[in-house]
Amino acid sequence: MQTQHDPDTNTIAIEGLAQPLSILHVTDSHMALADERDPEALPHADHYGALFRERTPDGVEPEALFSQALAHGEAHGVAATVLTGDIIHFPAHAGLERIAEEVGALSAPYLYTLGNHDWHFPHQDWNDATRQAHYARFASLTGGAPAAQALDVGDVRLIALDNSTYQITDAQLDFLRQQLDAPGPCLLFVHIPIALPTLIPDVVEVWREPIVMGADGWSEEGRAKWKVEENEASTRACLDLVARAENLVGIFCGHVHFDHVDRVHDGCYQYVTQPCFEGAHRTIRLAPLD
Ligand SMILES: [Fe+2]
Repeated sequence: MQTQHDPDTNTIAIEGLAQPLSILHVTDSHMALADERDPEALPHADHYGALFRERTPDGVEPEALFSQALAHGEAHGVAATVLTGDIIHFPAHAGLERIAEEVGALSAPYLYTLGNHDWHFPHQDWNDATRQAHYARFASLTGGAPAAQALDVGDVRLIALDNSTYQITDAQLDFLRQQLDAPGPCLLFVHIPIALPTLIPDVVEVWREPIVMGADGWSEEGRAKWKVEENEASTRACLDLVARAENLVGIFCGHVHFDHVDRVHDGCYQYVTQPCFEGAHRTIRLAPLD
């Protein structure tokens, strides 16, 4: 599938696309909300609420920036909104309700895939058992399928996978294969970027470790600290698949908290989007290729 990417305008021109459309991408708002329904999270709300307010422009609440991002999409008539994780800093009911209120008011459909923070309270172990234990809280926001979702918008397929443990399961890999059988262009949304040679040095400079999916070069201490295991066979197969899938035209993600765009293969670029708590979002413009 022939495409032309213009990262300056976030425009992807796609061969055979019937009509232009826009998609809003929002990631990493890190809203830290809790109330008496999650008493153990109240100190986290105080601590992380203050911490992220220090990082927002003019000390605005991350919640206000999340609302503004979605309002921007509404104003521009986007065909869909996709949230790629760390939307909340922990899975308290108050934060989940805030997301539900916001996405419930959208006039177009949305997808929400989770990041490493959405499903984890800071006082808990960070592992897949904790993620599985919290998946039920996200059921209504993820069509009952937080691990793998898809949404067709016009002749474009949006695919969202939860890769927030740095791994893709066999079931997610099967799902991805099936979805990529679509005749039209596909966009993949995940929290954690895939390792690309030009991305790794920037990531290591900021985070000291290559905190992206499929990276080599972890230190032993880094793996222990971030609890990142060696790549499973299904993760490696997923990376192989996206590196050659002809109708995959873009990968959109967050996690590392800076903007980065680079080529995955001839028709496909990866767009790492700056965090919403810094007032950022990305409006992806898809247009027919002349
Ligand atoms: Fe984040």
